Amino acid sequence: MISERALKELISVLGPEHISTRSEDLHTFGTDATKLRFKPDAVAFPGTAEAISRILHLANQERFPVIPRGAGSGKSGGALPVEGGLVLAMDRFNRILGIDEQNLIARVECGVITAVFQEAVEKLDLFYPPDPASIKISTLGGNVAECAGGLRAVKYGVTRDYVLGLTAVLPTGEIIRTGVETIKGVVGYDLTRLLIGSEGTLAVVTEIIVRLVPKPAYRKTMMAFFETAAAAVETVSAIIRSKIVPTALEFMDRTCIGCVDQDVGLAAPKGTGALLLIEVDGDKTLATKEAKKVEALCSRQGALEFRSASRVKDGEKLWEARRNVSESVYKLRPDKVSEDIVVPRSRMAEFVGFLEDLAKAYGLPMAAYGHAGDGNIHVNILFDEKVPGESEKVQAAVKALFTKVIEMRGTLSGEHGVGITKAPFIEMEISRPALELMARLKKAFDPNGILNPGKIFPYMI
Ligand code: MLT
Ligand code: ZN
Repeated sequence: MISERALKELISVLGPEHISTRSEDLHTFGTDATKLRFKPDAVAFPGTAEAISRILHLANQERFPVIPRGAGSGKSGGALPVEGGLVLAMDRFNRILGIDEQNLIARVECGVITAVFQEAVEKLDLFYPPDPASIKISTLGGNVAECAGGLRAVKYGVTRDYVLGLTAVLPTGEIIRTGVETIKGVVGYDLTRLLIGSEGTLAVVTEIIVRLVPKPAYRKTMMAFFETAAAAVETVSAIIRSKIVPTALEFMDRTCIGCVDQDVGLAAPKGTGALLLIEVDGDKTLATKEAKKVEALCSRQGALEFRSASRVKDGEKLWEARRNVSESVYKLRPDKVSEDIVVPRSRMAEFVGFLEDLAKAYGLPMAAYGHAGDGNIHVNILFDEKVPGESEKVQAAVKALFTKVIEMRGTLSGEHGVGITKAPFIEMEISRPALELMARLKKAFDPNGILNPGKIFPYMI
């Protein structure tokens, strides 16, 4: 609980216009894309790293939680104020500080919207590849906190592959710079990598230095429909084996197709049980050749139909539909848990078979979609929490899902993080000694446990 005295101090640090205890704000900043809800005591809108430093000093003196937050598009509850306290809304850190065309790097503040940044670099014929589905609302700081991936990860990698350095405020108030502004750099421990994906538990990132690549000259989107999920994912394996690296290789199962169809009218051929959305990019001649190879592979794998988006606009429409699947499946039930597992790409067929059995065994709709090219499938289990027994069934189904994923040598989360939703399961993947080391690291950064408490491994700290 933030005391009256601390609140007064916060007002004097930030100015009254940048701190709120209004009930609308406490409501808005108490939830995120998980739709779970908690209540912070106040919301702060700091504008400088120095102001954040003062806030953190105060939080240590008064022992109140501080929860950094980007756009609130997180899928595992990383920005939720589970123990109350002060939400640190980073909206005012919204400047692109520089795009250096000589060195192919950019310096940005953490609150810049990912899509806004991408558009800015693309105007200069440059490219920042990480593209989480929430790209139009997510912030670069949030992407760093969760190490966001996205649709293009199969070819281009994830956020950590593009971040060279950070400016961050430690929970104890010191402002540090990590990493480099050059392409190489190996001086000292790699704190940049440690902070990326640390889910706002180790420091408040304020500035990010990223590397850029040249914008691909040409892109082509394709869509292939299959009778079964197994046929679709076997095609994914065939594409990977053929040494083509598509920009994106996305999967949707029958349940997702049904939902998306109602929104955008996919006109899927009769008997469709799954589809792949595929993109290649790069030099036009080469990409065209790859697209032809993909088409041949799809037909060899028995695709019911293969389509190429004839214009960029048509391609965009398809990608937009894909980005909205997550919301679209709410048509089936009012509630869902949205998992983010990864399995070895060579074992995808075994995995989708398991999923179909899982849905039958628990009698709940399960929608599976996502980054098949990475082996990263978003398993959404739909339910109605008002129906007695359904929530318990979901928990049991999640446990069975995770057990299978670990048995297959996969991971519980490819890009959404642990947050609060996966915290009860983390020991299925991370051993005790490794968790204890993580807890010691947390303690070294944040001796009083004031920064984003209750996340990842709350019972260890
Ligand atoms: C996606 O790829 O659509 C997101 O990572 C997952 C989601 O929004 O469920
Ligand atoms: Zn995703």
